[in-house]
Amino acid sequence: MKLSTKHLLGIKNLTKEDIEIILSTASNFKDVLQRPVKKVPSLRDVTIVNLFYENSTRTRMSFELAEKRLSADTLNFAASSSSAAKGETLLDTVNNILSMKVDMVVMRHSASGAPHFLAKHIPAAIVNAGDGINEHPTQALLDAFSMQEKFGSLQGLKVAIIGDIMHSRVALSNIYLLKKMGAEIVVAGPPTLIPKYISEALNVRVEYNVKNALQWCDVANVLRIQLERQNQPLFSSLREYNLAYGVSQKLLDSLDKQITIMHPGPINRGVELDSDVADGNNSIILNQVENGVAVRMAVLYLLSNNGN
Ligand code: CP
Repeated sequence: MKLSTKHLLGIKNLTKEDIEIILSTASNFKDVLQRPVKKVPSLRDVTIVNLFYENSTRTRMSFELAEKRLSADTLNFAASSSSAAKGETLLDTVNNILSMKVDMVVMRHSASGAPHFLAKHIPAAIVNAGDGINEHPTQALLDAFSMQEKFGSLQGLKVAIIGDIMHSRVALSNIYLLKKMGAEIVVAGPPTLIPKYISEALNVRVEYNVKNALQWCDVANVLRIQLERQNQPLFSSLREYNLAYGVSQKLLDSLDKQITIMHPGPINRGVELDSDVADGNNSIILNQVENGVAVRMAVLYLLSNNGN
């Protein structure tokens, strides 16, 4: 099974078959991760750098663990403690790292398009671990894996993506993926946090009333309010955001159905999601994190076997 791409820069350019291959390979790796010995030799003698220009807990540790489970050699780069802080360019940094015989690059960057730029200039395979407000493809893949695990199929599944859609790379990657896989999507939140032309551009339904979106969906993927990407206030206060758009147990109790709760993390508890919901029986948030390792093993394994 081969992917149609040398890099994983986003979901936008993946085929439905690529996504199916990644999810089914991840399922095999999830079985491996249940065994007492969780390590396989698949990427022995492959060296991977985790190049993080932006903070991360889940994605960075998940990639590192995935690489170790595959027996790859790993290098970790944090921009704040590197010569990037002295002004070294992204391309110089990566070329210097590659000259040490590094085979693959996993990268997170605050600039949208940074991995796409890099892909034009270096020979190594690149995995986008989140670029600005553009895409976070492995998050969408692990979200899809988690929904498929829970519901059996993504076809016809009703997914509400709720919150700060405007600044969310998770939202965009999820929309691309879910549409390719035949799910139905509603994006919900305040008008100031939903791009004006998203309905026409991406063919998704927009709902400004979160209760209506929850009443409609099977799954709510609740997104973080990304205050660090907002140059000016886009809602009156966190308290008022929580009252108008936050997902609380009281709101869920007012529905006539149970829905599955997801969140990519990190959670602003008491803002977009209340703690009793995040930690409740319908939450699969920690399953998402667990599945991230198997999904990233699948991506790294498939790209390393793709003639690079
Ligand atoms: N979901 C996610 O990308 O989390 P981190 O920022 O901690 O990697």
